[in-house]
Amino acid sequence: MTQNITTDRILILDFGSQYSQLIARRVREAGVYSEMYAYDHDEDDIRAFNPKGIILSGGPESVYAEGSPRAPQVVFELGVPVLGICYGFQTMTAQLGGEVVAGSVKEFGYAKIDVQVEDGLLAGVKDANNQTQVWMSHGDKVAKLADGFTTTSSTPSCPFASASDEARKLYGVQFHPEVTHTEKGVELIANFVHNICGCGSEWNSENIIEMRVAQLREQIGNEKVLLGLSGGVDSSVVAALLHRAIGDQLTCVFVDNGLLRLNEGDQVMQMFAENMGIRVIRADAENRFLSALAGVTDPEAKRKIIGREFIEVFAEEARKLDGVKFLAQGTIYPDVIESAASKHGKAHVIKSHHNVGGLPDDLAFELVEPLRDLFKDEVRKLGVALGLPHHMIYRHPFPGPGLGVRILGEIKKEYADILRLADDIFMQELRESGWYDKTAQAFAVFQPVKSVGVVGDGRRYAWVIALRAVETVDFMTARFAHLPYDLVDKISTRIMNEIADVSRVVYDVSSKPPATIEWE
Ligand code: XMP
Repeated sequence: MTQNITTDRILILDFGSQYSQLIARRVREAGVYSEMYAYDHDEDDIRAFNPKGIILSGGPESVYAEGSPRAPQVVFELGVPVLGICYGFQTMTAQLGGEVVAGSVKEFGYAKIDVQVEDGLLAGVKDANNQTQVWMSHGDKVAKLADGFTTTSSTPSCPFASASDEARKLYGVQFHPEVTHTEKGVELIANFVHNICGCGSEWNSENIIEMRVAQLREQIGNEKVLLGLSGGVDSSVVAALLHRAIGDQLTCVFVDNGLLRLNEGDQVMQMFAENMGIRVIRADAENRFLSALAGVTDPEAKRKIIGREFIEVFAEEARKLDGVKFLAQGTIYPDVIESAASKHGKAHVIKSHHNVGGLPDDLAFELVEPLRDLFKDEVRKLGVALGLPHHMIYRHPFPGPGLGVRILGEIKKEYADILRLADDIFMQELRESGWYDKTAQAFAVFQPVKSVGVVGDGRRYAWVIALRAVETVDFMTARFAHLPYDLVDKISTRIMNEIADVSRVVYDVSSKPPATIEWE
């Protein structure tokens, strides 16, 4: 649990809905700090969190099924406002003496609710017809409200689309205000956190930086901190934040594995070491990685070798430093939530342990994780507020093994050099045409096959480059980007003209599933 963030905080109790994280994000977007705990989280911890309001999330279970989850009693004892969403509304109703039944029709998708009573929650959300569009996703529904509750809106198939007991400040909605399909969802959540719970809007980048800097100074004191800097968003923001908090007490190690994009190593050094004055040790380990990878063709074996070499190089650099007490990491909140989401997830077992788990025993650092309670979009905003360039903060993700999984089969320096040039042309053209920001990830892939081409009067027998560009939100599924043919034409022409070792360019038209985004 994070201490001393702000006094105004909202607690979300998670009953397992796919939208639960979104609730926490929406609350924070409204400028209020929020955390999410499993519904069966330790009650003392819930008290200690000292929430100004509690939101009970949706969930996949049926309230009347035996053993289905319930909100802990403390929720109703704290005397703070409670908002139940979908399952959260149903369990609150059942726990306070109302009734929930299986719906004869499952309601899923858009619905218009008729607003009957404009209570604090629904204030200002209805249109001229007293309606507003919401997103429904439920089978069961409330059949009888608990004592003290009044219906505030309904749909033809859902007589209690929302209800409230304003005296006790208890609110329930059958729909999902946290998803963007609910037209006035943002307003509704703002109504709850600001008007009903009385929270201010302290949660913004400037305040987060100020609070975080103070916390880091307190935690670290005069000790030294080591950070593995990759140039990716999370480690870059950690570097900038730590630099602001503790200046020269921070040392970063940047491992150049020879599998980075064109000029990437120099750019990282330029930005962090030269522009920002951060102490960055660049470990040039290209030869070492390439020798360890020589002759290896299996994708998983390649990943393992790259991971192992990284740890070894990082550990060697760390051992050269004297008196380092802390290791900083860019763990972010979704990592923490994911690993704590066990059914009885009382302990926050964190994914980041895996990251340091690989370090040898003689390097027993204490962890510093200043982004541990932040969502990715918050980390990005923080990065911008800390002065990191926009293009770096909004860059497509780049996998840990780098070009290692984009050179099919055996990795050779020659291949990596060709791929870097092709990828760079692809990125230049995507940025210039405005397509970079319309795709979630795009890159070139080296095909270790030769194909015949013709250049002037001569014959060329050279390598093949594949272009991959996808649109996705969650990276679990993805569709290949429908780039305009003119753009694909320009990119392929440039690649074949400017790189003598490439005779052919192909565009990957596979979606995920069944293909993956990366080729290996
Ligand atoms: P796939 O290829 O599984 O990729 O569809 C989904 C997302 O994960 C990234 N990815 C990785 N990231 N180490 C990483 O740090 C890896 O080994 C790795 N493999 C895939 C991929 O770039 C995409 O964003």
